[in-house]
Amino acid sequence: MEPHPFGADPAESLPLESLSVEPLLTSEFDADPGSVYGRLRRTYGPVAPVGLLGVPVWLVLDYREVLEVLRNESQWRRDIRYWRARAEGRLPREWPLLAGYEVRQMMFMDDEEHLSARGTYHAALGPFQDSHTPQGWELRSAVVAYADELIAMLAAESGSAGFADLAAQYTRPLLLMVTTRLFGCPVELGDELVMDLWRMLDGGPDAGPATGRALAAMTRLAAHRRALPGDDLTSYMLLADPTLSDEQLGRELFMNAVYLTDITGNMVCNTLLEVLRGNATVRRSLSAGLIGETVNRAALANTPVANMCFRFAARDVQLGNFRIRAGDIVSPSSAAAHQDLMAIGSHLVDSTVSTRAHLGWGAGPHQCPTAARELAGTIVTTAVGRIFEHFAKVELTLPPDQLPWRSGPVVRGLRLLPVRYELSGSSPARRPAPGRTFGSSGGVVPSGTGARHSDRHEWSLLASLRRLMFGGRKGA
Ligand code: HEM
Repeated sequence: MEPHPFGADPAESLPLESLSVEPLLTSEFDADPGSVYGRLRRTYGPVAPVGLLGVPVWLVLDYREVLEVLRNESQWRRDIRYWRARAEGRLPREWPLLAGYEVRQMMFMDDEEHLSARGTYHAALGPFQDSHTPQGWELRSAVVAYADELIAMLAAESGSAGFADLAAQYTRPLLLMVTTRLFGCPVELGDELVMDLWRMLDGGPDAGPATGRALAAMTRLAAHRRALPGDDLTSYMLLADPTLSDEQLGRELFMNAVYLTDITGNMVCNTLLEVLRGNATVRRSLSAGLIGETVNRAALANTPVANMCFRFAARDVQLGNFRIRAGDIVSPSSAAAHQDLMAIGSHLVDSTVSTRAHLGWGAGPHQCPTAARELAGTIVTTAVGRIFEHFAKVELTLPPDQLPWRSGPVVRGLRLLPVRYELSGSSPARRPAPGRTFGSSGGVVPSGTGARHSDRHEWSLLASLRRLMFGGRKGA
């Protein structure tokens, strides 16, 4: 990558808090973050000072600098106690983005403490990582069954051709069902959990209470599985580290719930969107059956974790054109880095060559763990694949530039994904059998946990899904 043409001038050596910053979260940013990143890059170079809900932050824009921040753990710390403004009590009262960062779990740990927590996590997620174990195989079969069942419900409710919101009526319930199952929840997780996670990540006004509610739910789940272990991630976490208290385990589950329900769900929607809006390389890889590659390309074009977790400078350091002081906060932007990457390597975008250089999974010691990536990749490819398997025709009902995006500093996610669809003639969803039960569409109700999934449980899951999908419209 070319060295940046800007030189540091004296104003740029001023402390972050004394620079005048433009607010990042504007309506322009919601609609077209790329143009904001581009303007910041032209004004400041690879690193720009911005305001995040009233707090100045260094936004790291260029690929090379983002990689440096993600990889150099001794310089860029995750522990929030390194943040000078917080330590000195200079943050606005109830700054909405703080709630999530105050939850002390693996993502916000450094060094040995982080490594040991990551080890526990690897051990616990291992059985679900791929389809070679009974747990992995059963989970994957369940994802297919859930997806088919949701499409069948859509067809039963709206007909073999009609309109649907693939975010609310397909992706969100699908991810809630997967999370309920993976975590071993005795009852299904509700849509309210997803909304609470949104409120926290997007820095809404009630981010604090929303975080508290989601944490409390996960802590109750931890206590439940300690008393009644099962074949699920919660129980395997306890097996891997029996010293975890319910509160500690609740905090780890909480973070995983963010990734599973929200981030993976957004990856599903963003991938569907790239296909529907006609992204040529995404479409090409999809029709070539390279569905994993489809996800890579969608991640490059529209990564769900647009701006990664904050890091804090351990020592004074030069980054881009600025002198960053010890204790300053930086936000590495994978979305902006991808823009930079595409500008320098446009051949990647035009060809069908793999482009794993994307930062959709992060990089360095805190990157998404392998087992989680494998699992997420399977969920995304299955969820996207089942749509194109069942639907002969599916098209957006709004022009892509009018789709409503969430407003927030972390996630690039759609509020709705409205489509017009037509089921294919051979889709089993055209023929929903009367009295069909959950998991009957060729999918599997797992043998290990089958006893827990009684008919009664499945019918209540189905009933609550109907409420979730059709939100009272049909009085379900
Ligand atoms: C398509 C879906 C997913 C995407 C795009 C994604 C992306 C990411 C990214 C970008 C990071 C690094 C964040 C940073 O450094 O600030 C990360 C970390 C992490 N992800 Fe994923 N993730 C996904 C799915 C999952 C799933 C399904 C799980 C769990 C079941 C998971 C668990 C984690 C954990 C535990 C970390 C923190 C690792 C650490 O701090 O050492 N992710 N993920």
